[in-house]
Amino acid sequence: MDRPSRWAIMLSAFGGSFLSNTCVIGLQWGDEGKGKIVDALAAQHELVVRYCGGANAGHSVTVGPERFALHLIPSGILFEQVLCVIGTGVALDLETLLQEIEGLQARGVKVEENLKISDRAHLVMPYHKLEDELAEQAASGSNKLGTTKRGIGPCYTDRAARRWGIRLGEVYSPESFRDKLAHTVEHKNRIFKALYGAEALDVDEIFASMQQMAQRLEPHVVDATALLNDAAEQGRSILFEGAQGSLLDLDHGTYPYVTSSNCSVAGVSAGTGVPFRSIDRIIGILKAYCTRVGAGPFPSELHDSTSEFLRERGHEYGTTTGRPRRCGWFDAVAARHTCRINGVDSVAIMLLDVLSGLEEINIVTAYRYQGKNLCSFPAQAEVLDQVEPICETVPGWTEQIDQCRCFSDLPANAQAYIHRLEALLHTQVEIVSVGPDRDATIYI
Ligand code: GDP
Ligand code: IMO
Ligand code: MG
Repeated sequence: MDRPSRWAIMLSAFGGSFLSNTCVIGLQWGDEGKGKIVDALAAQHELVVRYCGGANAGHSVTVGPERFALHLIPSGILFEQVLCVIGTGVALDLETLLQEIEGLQARGVKVEENLKISDRAHLVMPYHKLEDELAEQAASGSNKLGTTKRGIGPCYTDRAARRWGIRLGEVYSPESFRDKLAHTVEHKNRIFKALYGAEALDVDEIFASMQQMAQRLEPHVVDATALLNDAAEQGRSILFEGAQGSLLDLDHGTYPYVTSSNCSVAGVSAGTGVPFRSIDRIIGILKAYCTRVGAGPFPSELHDSTSEFLRERGHEYGTTTGRPRRCGWFDAVAARHTCRINGVDSVAIMLLDVLSGLEEINIVTAYRYQGKNLCSFPAQAEVLDQVEPICETVPGWTEQIDQCRCFSDLPANAQAYIHRLEALLHTQVEIVSVGPDRDATIYI
């Protein structure tokens, strides 16, 4: 493993200071286009850091004809000079990570000393994935969460319970790791058998495979908390890459239909060890409409031909699971809630090009519940499930906009749509995205 003095040397090798420390945070139910924006901003930062979630994330980056889907590796990896860090708060699946590293290397992407992994990150173990799968299979009705089955919930549960959680750094002390693993697997096997009649997992097999994978990753493993704080103290610019979206935040999202981490800005400090005061700006990422995968309330959801239109035009199929995404209108009530809880400085409106061709566009501006307008975003999923979304209708545009590179190139109605969102969100729109490619971006 690296030692502090080496990180300091390596950090200085990554040279020059550019922008301030920036957070890129999803403001809907994930898949807002965070990967594209992180890639777009990465070149102006020296470090890109993941702080939450795990391989449930799927971040797409499109560069010309090439498309990359990143799950655990930060979306700054396509820039060799950027130091990518997988932080403490990430639920780390070593198998997926190794596959991802190999996949990128096979495509000529450098993944060497430019990737660092926190020794404090909790491991997603084979029994976590199995538990996620079995629990979802056994659940019915409103108990089904529609998880990605990547073991995220069980891993974070064990972390919080403290008795069974295993951190990456522990694997490098084989004896104590073997003891803890034996104890944990025995416990898990008893539960799996009693609840699901599942066959016992083999502790030796798990031990051998974890050891082997951890050895391969050892050159990347560091005390990321120290590395990031050194970087911040040296004035190096850090880009914090959110995963999921704030409506999936464990505390502030549509509980229980959420993920198991704080994917809003609240998770940045916990998931990296970098103090809040080091964050200079927060950019919220929003689609020009709304999507959601998995179960849970979605007030602006459509079940008509417009939903099909959005899904096909926006290629709305999950980057991680391939599941078709549920589609609906832009929900300004939900987005205002997430702008506030994140304290965003500005927002990026993504996939605006997908709306081209719609005669009229709706925006949800209020929720009615039991005959009254709600004045805040409701806490209960049951309430959110029953609200009547109140829509404002604005005119659409017919022109294709994917070649627009200045705000003034956009059709008047598209400009008006953006201005209307700014007014509803009380937040400035800083970026408008008009296509998946890096270049298809308008900076206002
Ligand atoms: P993330 O999880 O937030 O990084 O988002 P995903 O990558 O899962 O999903 C966003 C999808 O939209 C990806 O397929 C992107 O390539 C694509 N995308 C991003 N921005 C735009 C855009 O402005 N227009 C279009 N048409 N697609 C976009
Ligand atoms: P990115 O980073 C969209 C959803 C799942 C499910 C719920 C819980 O690509 O935006 P989990 O496996 O985390 O226990 O599933 O959260 N979900 C996402 N939806 N984008 C994601 O990540 C997601 N990560 C988790 O579909 O509804
Ligand atoms: Mg995604």
